[in-house]
Amino acid sequence: GERLDFRASKQRLLVVANRLPVSAVRHGEDSWQLEMSVGGLVTALLGVKEFDTRWIGWAGVNVPDEIGQKALAKALDEKRCIPVFLDEEVVHQYYNGYCNNILWPLFHYIGLPQEDRLATTRSFQSQFDAYKKANQLFADVVNEHYEEGDVVWCHDYHLMFLPKCLKERNSKMKVGWFLHTPFPSSEIHRMLPSRLELLRSVLAADLVGFHTYDYARHFVSACTRILGLEGTPEGVEDQGKLTRIAAFPVGIDSERFIKALELPEVQDHMKVLKQRFAGRKVMLGVDRLDMIKGIPQKILAFEKFLEENPNWRNKVVLLQIAVPTRTDVPEYQKLTSQVHEIVGRINGRFGSLTAVPIHHLDRSLDFHELCALYAVTDVALVTSLRDGMNLVSYEYVACQESKKGVLILSEFAGAAQSLGAGAILVNPWNVTEVAYSIGYALNMPADEREKRHHHNFKHVISHTAQEWAATFVSELNVTIVEAQLRTRQ
Ligand code: ADP
Ligand code: F6P
Repeated sequence: GERLDFRASKQRLLVVANRLPVSAVRHGEDSWQLEMSVGGLVTALLGVKEFDTRWIGWAGVNVPDEIGQKALAKALDEKRCIPVFLDEEVVHQYYNGYCNNILWPLFHYIGLPQEDRLATTRSFQSQFDAYKKANQLFADVVNEHYEEGDVVWCHDYHLMFLPKCLKERNSKMKVGWFLHTPFPSSEIHRMLPSRLELLRSVLAADLVGFHTYDYARHFVSACTRILGLEGTPEGVEDQGKLTRIAAFPVGIDSERFIKALELPEVQDHMKVLKQRFAGRKVMLGVDRLDMIKGIPQKILAFEKFLEENPNWRNKVVLLQIAVPTRTDVPEYQKLTSQVHEIVGRINGRFGSLTAVPIHHLDRSLDFHELCALYAVTDVALVTSLRDGMNLVSYEYVACQESKKGVLILSEFAGAAQSLGAGAILVNPWNVTEVAYSIGYALNMPADEREKRHHHNFKHVISHTAQEWAATFVSELNVTIVEAQLRTRQ
């Protein structure tokens, strides 16, 4: 039938996510500096421009005093952001603990923490309690700022308990929930001690979205197998109430990247990089320094390539830019040392007095430097062991119109389903296959590169973040109208 389209009017949208697009650094009692946050969720949502949007989330900092809280709220207000204040203990148990040590590894098929299993089991309940408490605090802030007719869009695994909290406060609120990570097979989800409560809470939303059809299907089968509910092609039904479930693959604001390449600052960076690496092919990795990104596997594959192809030594360099993330979680600290050790060993083995094969940076790059790197490099290596979507791969493609570089992409990233036609897909666990693909990419003839790039470029410019958000919000509006019609019948 005919689809309602709410895009014409500027609808008020409350975006609720654990992390705000800016993180705060304190400079004095009431003085704050705001820095851009790094991550796929922020990149995607910054591309969303057609709504009257307010963000609600955590500014990444503990602010125990009222003066500081007031000053920060004021500074954030200018960016249309509203802070949720979480104290140190809640952050420790909710963010470091339940979100990043339990849900994150589980949803990425790494499993529940193996070490000190008994301690984990014992602390599980208190971490889940903190998770629920944090979600209640988010709900309080949403409620305070909510106006009738607003669309409330909750994001990610940090806030799975939020749809239920919101609907309990106001059953008329339009609530959508979107997951930026994979949703794992129901066989994985059922390991979670809190599996029932989380599924039930998400189902309180009107519309639930995932990046891929597979994740949506896993969610529906978790609801059927674990909760015993009926799955329909539309979603999941519980006692006459339907929760719509669908795939909405995210994209980037491709124009922002394409336009940036014309800026003099970006051109200057490009010139410097080209000079610096003249005569060598350059491969690029850009990731948060996260266990799911397969950074050790990527570097080991590069080592194997160098080992087997002595003629390429000194002729190819890997730039791995890995921004530290979640540094209070022990797994992440271990990963940093592991990566440093492998990089050191390989540079010691294949480096010379004047050059090393791997440049590894533990930092983030600003937007202009990042665009320049994307534009001048020959190959991008994305080797995630699991990844909800992976927007780095989209950004690389957006910046490669003139060079037509090759994207090597993990088949376990959501992006493999959209960029698979142009990328070289690899299993990141298979170091031999990745090493072979590196050689294939470096030797690829121009016409094949062009064809592959063209395929992906077309996709990246036509499936944007703007389109993603507009589709989700429009679908949420339609879902609610349809539900109202059903109850009237
Ligand atoms: P995730 O959601 O796991 O963070 P994505 O690939 O979807 O992964 O998104 C990562 C975002 O963060 C991208 O927009 C990318 O540009 C940015 N990013 C990641 N690493 C860096 C880095 N080292 N420097 C600058 N930006 C980075
Ligand atoms: O999508 C993955 C994600 O968890 C986002 O929610 C988040 O913005 C990003 O990774 C960065 O992680 P964090 O917010 O923990 O720094």
